[in-house]
Amino acid sequence: MNASIPASGATRSAPHAAAKARFWDRVARRYAAAAISDLPGYERSVERTRALLTPGDAVLELGCGTGSTALRLASACGPYLATDISPRMIEIAGQRLAASPQPQLRFAVDDADVAQPALDGPFDVVLAFNILHLLDDLDAAVARCARVLRPGGLLISKTPCLSEMNPLIPHLALPLMRALRLAPPVQSLAEADITAACRRQGLEVLTVERHASRGRDVRPFVVARRPIAAGQAGAAAQACQTPKPAERKSIAMSISRS
Ligand SMILES: C[S@@+](CC[C@H](N)C(=O)[O-])C[C@H]1O[C@@H](n2cnc3c(N)ncnc32)[C@H](O)[C@@H]1O
Repeated sequence: MNASIPASGATRSAPHAAAKARFWDRVARRYAAAAISDLPGYERSVERTRALLTPGDAVLELGCGTGSTALRLASACGPYLATDISPRMIEIAGQRLAASPQPQLRFAVDDADVAQPALDGPFDVVLAFNILHLLDDLDAAVARCARVLRPGGLLISKTPCLSEMNPLIPHLALPLMRALRLAPPVQSLAEADITAACRRQGLEVLTVERHASRGRDVRPFVVARRPIAAGQAGAAAQACQTPKPAERKSIAMSISRS
């Protein structure tokens, strides 16, 4: 499933992380300037996410890129920490924020492959858009998200699933692009891998949606919730035991019916 990165559980080296950051630094300027390929689909995901945020929510975004989504959503919630492994992406995001300041929004360099005590939250919502397939170990990443969420908190993700694409992409185009250093390390995931990882890490999958406006949508939008009564061990989990008010529960229940 994962040809180009260390197998799950393997020790992750500092050079591996540095190489990832360098790749994304290199493409950051182009990424910032590129048009969104399916704007209506993107808008639908943004609006869906906005509807799930409540004022005051503490939000953590992983792999925020140049901050476009954070800048759109931060006005709908409380403190919003948007992180990315690439200092260059974060620099551009910071410039955008300086151009239209939002006091609750903060950008920081962070490697989502590594547990960071400083990011232990608790958070009401963790956002992971177009990032889970880029992380070394899906289960470890989801576990970290689950650990920093308050009971009742939501992990909202949208992930390109390579194994749902034309097989030529994961088996031919991607290896070629990797060899030419035109693509980062990528996991070939399916929707079922994401929902199964959420469940294994104790999250309830509330909804799986497809938001693309055209073509076959290979990017499931998955909303998963840390159960209110989750009994997790560990100090960090204990620190996250203050549940969100009932409003979170009722919102989440309403999407589970949709
Ligand atoms: C495809 S872009 C998506 C950016 C943004 N979330 C979006 O949807 O437009 C992937 C982003 O993930 C970041 N990234 C890759 N590996 C990461 C890691 N281990 N930790 C944090 N960010 C990472 C990259 O720097 C890049 O900004």
